[in-house]
Amino acid sequence: MKKLLLISIVLCVSAFLVSFLNSANTPKFKYSDFETPKYCGTTCHRDIYNQWSQSMMSQSYIHEWDEIEYFMLALPHARLDEKVAEVEAGCNGCHAPLALLTGDIPPKPPSAGTRANEGVSCEVCHLIAGFEGDIPYNFKPGKTKYNSRIGEVASPVHKIEVNPIMKTGDFCGICHNEKSPYGVWVKSTHLEWKEGPYAKENVHCQDCHMPRAQSIKAAMGKVYSDVRQHIFAGAHDPSKVRGTIELKVYPDHSECEPGDALKLSVTLYNQKTGHKFPTGSVEDRLVWLELVAIDEDGTKYHIPVNKKGFPGEEYTISTKTLAYQDMGVPLKDPNFKGLERDDIPEGNRIFRMPYFDPQGRMTIQQWNTASLGVDYRIGPRETKIEYFTFHIPENIKSKELTFKATLFYQLLVSSVGKYLNVPEEEYRPFEVNTAYAKVKIID
Ligand code: HEC
Ligand code: HEC
Ligand code: HEC
Ligand code: HEC
Repeated sequence: MKKLLLISIVLCVSAFLVSFLNSANTPKFKYSDFETPKYCGTTCHRDIYNQWSQSMMSQSYIHEWDEIEYFMLALPHARLDEKVAEVEAGCNGCHAPLALLTGDIPPKPPSAGTRANEGVSCEVCHLIAGFEGDIPYNFKPGKTKYNSRIGEVASPVHKIEVNPIMKTGDFCGICHNEKSPYGVWVKSTHLEWKEGPYAKENVHCQDCHMPRAQSIKAAMGKVYSDVRQHIFAGAHDPSKVRGTIELKVYPDHSECEPGDALKLSVTLYNQKTGHKFPTGSVEDRLVWLELVAIDEDGTKYHIPVNKKGFPGEEYTISTKTLAYQDMGVPLKDPNFKGLERDDIPEGNRIFRMPYFDPQGRMTIQQWNTASLGVDYRIGPRETKIEYFTFHIPENIKSKELTFKATLFYQLLVSSVGKYLNVPEEEYRPFEVNTAYAKVKIID
């Protein structure tokens, strides 16, 4: 039993012993106080290191879209608008924690090769001792307690300590909840999980993002049956996102005549996420449902979703409207007209929650978010139903129509990606799921 408690361990050698940080402004560390992930990886923890290297944790500072957003938008914005000045340092709390802990603010760009590039490294997570207050959010020294290495179990190279918080979703919440300078929850993955069914069933973030498998923990160690794999698959892994939502299409008749109005419903069941879908960087993400009718010649008819009439619904149906005008501030273009809000075919249902700047315009700058709009995302184990009406063309020749529903996922609104020269893979849509139904056409 005691052995089971030792799963949560602190890993690499380090010379320093520290007590809790208590001031937000005086860095107490030097980069040399922290081991590099490469050291942890090449000495002992090779498999875990390989997994971490391929995860977004190792990319949190050097990933191109992160670099573009910080250096082109957030940093200039912080210097022009006092209200958001705190993000010059604040972004790095979660994206380049070592830079914040050592006071290297702003860090040099990734090309300079500083240790900010290590991102969310082994040491960052394995030294967190806890957080202050009721709700974990915005990783910050002072609020996050940083651990010492006084341990009880032997390892050849370092002390190992049991830290129960690492087994819980609250630990992840330290970085997966974010409050904007306007006091708005602009990232609330942990809060969504906490309110949802999985937390009540004691299913934690780790159970879905760090699954257990039979393997070794360290090169010289024995095989354990239940080692936490450091996979951290998320929205950047299509294999994680695919199948998140189960789709079905139900036409209200199996046979129709030309000219008929056929009603269809599409059900979307969230069978996979422990939080809402999409979650996290909700300001960037686009999840949308497209329904098309396809005749026997392959001709496609796009079918717009029926409106339900709830407040704020206009933000959940794709349009050509312009948005994101507040990017004009950091881009130093006072006449910036904005970019196409959705940049996808019109009339599709979008599962999202819009973020608004202080002027009430939609924004992708989460730090400049003063309010949130309607939350039309799909909750954990929630089912949403969307309705459509298709007028069978009078002149249709086909004897059969196929209705195809596709749920698409896009990490970033493509108009923004193109405008800021973000690599195309960041905004290329991919399929979450598809479903089909057939209807016969009779005369
Ligand atoms: C995002 C935070 C995070 C990062 C980054 C991280 N770990 Fe972990 N690690 C955890 C958590 C959480 C656990 C599991 C704690 C538990 O369930 O007891 C864990 C467990 C472990 C374990 C014990 C595995 C087991 O099942 O007993 C080892 C070994 C380990 N990590 C090594 C590393 C190494 C090496 C790196 C860097 C290459 C690393 N970790 C990076 C959060 C992290
Ligand atoms: C020290 C801060 C920190 C902690 C603690 C942390 N994360 Fe993260 N995590 C990040 C950052 C920053 C990113 C985003 C990387 C990027 O895209 O720039 C991220 C990305 C992820 C992703 C990938 C998302 C994607 O878009 O593909 C997953 C999954 C994830 N974290 C899960 C977890 C889980 C589970 C835990 C707790 C065991 C955890 N994180 C703890 C900072 C953290
Ligand atoms: C029941 C399984 C489950 C649990 C529990 C769970 N997740 Fe996830 N998570 C998923 C799946 C599936 C996806 C992929 C679909 C998506 O992007 O939402 C995902 C995606 C993510 C992403 C990427 C989202 C994006 O749009 O960029 C992050 C970050 C993340 N999870 C963090 C967490 C954190 C933090 C917790 C705990 C507070 C957690 N997850 C709990 C299943 C789970
Ligand atoms: C509280 C911790 C935290 C803070 C503060 C924070 N981020 Fe993040 N950021 C994250 C996490 C966690 C993710 C991953 C969420 C997800 O995958 O959905 C993320 C994702 C991102 C992404 C999207 C990555 C992608 O590939 O889609 C960008 C860009 C980004 N952050 C930039 C910033 C900037 C710029 C700031 C400062 C204004 C900032 N972040 C502040 C935790 C934070």
